[in-house]
Amino acid sequence: MYGSDKAGDDAERTAFRKAEKKYKLYYEDNSKSSKKKKLPKQVDLSEVLDFKSISESYNQTGDLPPGIVAVNCGFDRPVFGLENHPGFYFIPGALTLEEQCQWIRESLTNFPQPPNRTNHNVIYGPISNLFVAAKEGKILVEEKSDDCLDSKSSDIVSNGDAQRWKFYEEDSAKSRGKTCKSVSASVLLRKLRWSTLGLQFAWSKRNYDVSLPHNKIPDALGQLAKRMAQPAMPIGEEFRPEAAIVNYFALGDALGGHLDDMEVDWSKPIVSMSLGCKAIFLLGGKSREDEPLAMFLRSGDVVLMAGEARECFHGVPRIFTDEENAEITPLELQFSHADDHCFLEYIRTSRININIRQVY
Ligand code: OGA
Ligand code: MN
Repeated sequence: MYGSDKAGDDAERTAFRKAEKKYKLYYEDNSKSSKKKKLPKQVDLSEVLDFKSISESYNQTGDLPPGIVAVNCGFDRPVFGLENHPGFYFIPGALTLEEQCQWIRESLTNFPQPPNRTNHNVIYGPISNLFVAAKEGKILVEEKSDDCLDSKSSDIVSNGDAQRWKFYEEDSAKSRGKTCKSVSASVLLRKLRWSTLGLQFAWSKRNYDVSLPHNKIPDALGQLAKRMAQPAMPIGEEFRPEAAIVNYFALGDALGGHLDDMEVDWSKPIVSMSLGCKAIFLLGGKSREDEPLAMFLRSGDVVLMAGEARECFHGVPRIFTDEENAEITPLELQFSHADDHCFLEYIRTSRININIRQVY
């Protein structure tokens, strides 16, 4: 999809690549004796901008660190910009805890539902009700010959004519495991990397494929994006949410440096919301040679990239899932009811990013 995470000789040398390597998750080399106790290497986080503390001291004293400006836009909370990056806006804690929970639930249950596409489509075809299937311990089994067919299966999914995949209860899946390929729904949920809402983005063509069936962006998400986009919109103009990409990150996952250049009008912002575990975001310049700024992204933060900031390389080299750094205790409490166990388990070690775009 985006910039590759593999370090080629050339890529190795750019300032952006160096910063990615600095913050990326590496493990200590002591793993020979105790493989299970892999310890993450310590990273120096002293240069990472922390808009939460910037916001707190701004609220108390009105002071801001050099290079950071407060944007006056009649918004109900502080919005910050960067002197050297016109068009970039950071809204710390823009989403309430309830909103964060709502969008985490949606991101796991409804957003990956067909006709929305996910990274699993290419292998399995459209998969319905993945989250529920994972919760119920179901197994997705490939049906390619008669001996695999069974009437007890549910939720038929298919990938064209050649392959058909269906969810089975664990027990009945075991008996056909010898003849058919299978994968558990919980593994598929862990391996969910993206889903696309509204106009469907075709990764292979790196473009929006308007011929693909799609639903409109859900109304509540569209309304939220319009409200959040306001600081980056010309007065009197309203943001039109037409597409969204939902990124799912597990420990060790990264989003390589890239530009989002497939939308027609770059003056319109990309509205990007963070949910779950804390991450590091890199905002570079128009060249990969420009040294990027690193900043923390926490659950509930919203970032806007419009105008010149749309031409700047950016990426997410790191997410934190350890107790101290993930900073998701308030979310854990929200999901503490037994019915929400699956959400709790997922979000403890994951980050979700929803970025909403006006395409035309
Ligand atoms: C993207 C993107 C940033 C993030 O999906 O294009 O830049 O915070 N995401 O995950
Ligand atoms: Mn992007």
